[in-house]
Order: sequence, then C-alpha cells, then structure tokens
Amino acid sequence: MFACICCAVSVDEVNAAIDAGADTVDAVSDATYAGTGCGTCHERLEDLIEARCPLAALRVA
Ligand code: FES
Repeated sequence: MFACICCAVSVDEVNAAIDAGADTVDAVSDATYAGTGCGTCHERLEDLIEARCPLAALRVA
C-alpha cells in the first residue's frame, strides 16, 4: 500500500523512516521523498508518525 502516490512511497518505507528517527512530515519527506508532490498525503504521513511515535502528537505545531 502506498502512503504517497505521487512519489510511489509505501507505508512500509515510511514506517522504516519513522523507526529510524523521522518524527515529522518534513523528516519523512527528507528520508523518503513522500509528501514532496501534491501534499495530499501529509495528513496520512502525520497519522503514520503518530501511530509509531505517540509523543509526536503532543508536539506544539
Ligand atoms: S500523494 Fe504524496 S505528495 Fe502527492
């Protein structure tokens, strides 16, 4: 399953980036290129980050 259609980045690739320390959408984008196209997937990337890194949800934007 793709997390980002524009860049053909899978959920597994995003989760691997999160496990390696990417705890923001920008960090996931830097690691995988996910989210660097239309931006529609940013909310999905945030959800994936929060699912694997619950403290990220507490961060003040
Ligand atoms: S779906 Fe991820 S940038 Fe377009």
